[in-house]
Amino acid sequence: MKKIFGLGVGLIFALGIFTGCSGDKKEGASKKANTLKVAFNQSEAHPQYKALKEFGEKLEKETGGEYKLEISPNSLLGDQRAATELVQNGVIQMAVVGNPVVENFNRDFAVIGLPYVYDSIDHQKDVFLSGVLTDLFKSVNKNGFEVVGAYTAGARSIYTNKPIEKPEDMKGYKIRVMQSDTMKRMVDLMGGVGTPMAQGEVYTAIQQGVLEGGENNEVTYADLKHYEIAKYFSYTNHLMVPDLIIINEKTYNGMSEDNRKIFDKLVKESVESEFEAWQENVHSAKKIAEENGATFIEISMASFQENVKPLQESVINSSDITKKIYEGMRSLTN
Ligand code: GCU
Repeated sequence: MKKIFGLGVGLIFALGIFTGCSGDKKEGASKKANTLKVAFNQSEAHPQYKALKEFGEKLEKETGGEYKLEISPNSLLGDQRAATELVQNGVIQMAVVGNPVVENFNRDFAVIGLPYVYDSIDHQKDVFLSGVLTDLFKSVNKNGFEVVGAYTAGARSIYTNKPIEKPEDMKGYKIRVMQSDTMKRMVDLMGGVGTPMAQGEVYTAIQQGVLEGGENNEVTYADLKHYEIAKYFSYTNHLMVPDLIIINEKTYNGMSEDNRKIFDKLVKESVESEFEAWQENVHSAKKIAEENGATFIEISMASFQENVKPLQESVINSSDITKKIYEGMRSLTN
């Protein structure tokens, strides 16, 4: 905690963050732009960055210049956990963070980040835009931030120094996972040793043999050049974990009703356009990785699906809320 606070204070000075402000100006006062600082842990080439940028441009236009976005990519503001604390404290206003980060505030979030819970990217899109997650998203606002939407991050698979075709192939393999119990248990059940770690440390950890591999989507695999240290990407397609768009609670509730309506509408549009951009980016990411020596392997998912069932069952049945969300999600399959 102390360390993160220290980091936050350092960043305030390093980035002149005091200029960022939240909430509308009082009536009668001249309308000054509210700059919403956004932490993003991937590059400017990432589809979520492009979606955020477009969101920011529209927000500025449609609020008549009252709100604008300032996006800091490449984990400049720290990893996703640190970024969440900065949003909670109002040092910055927004961030995009993986579902496992928010799961640490409310365990019910685990149900939307379970392995093999979405049938396809279209199914996931319907879930994100249908309203079945509204109550879940609202549930964390007592922690100082609101979840206002979710971007797709495609499907994740295992990559390491050899093809992985069945759970036994991963025996004793330390595979990096995002930082939550659900993620660790998932890889343990899939046959490996789930090893929680921040994304930025993975390349070096694999290179130095601290880990045997990781699990991620093709876009991040290529973006972070993980093909250089783990050449075999085996399509376990085990996880379609949402990336959540979060905003400081006071900033969000300090908006005028009109501005908040515009904000909500634009988040929705941004989610839709990010889903569209995603598929295209997968193709180009795969091509780049292959040109650099990566091999993508199609495998049968059946044994992995079977192995993670106890995790699915325990999370789905952990409360009436998770049961209801799960039923809502499954009711949207075709
Ligand atoms: C994906 C996801 C990120 C997440 C990362 C990770 O890239 O989009 O939100 O941080 O995986 O594995 O940590």
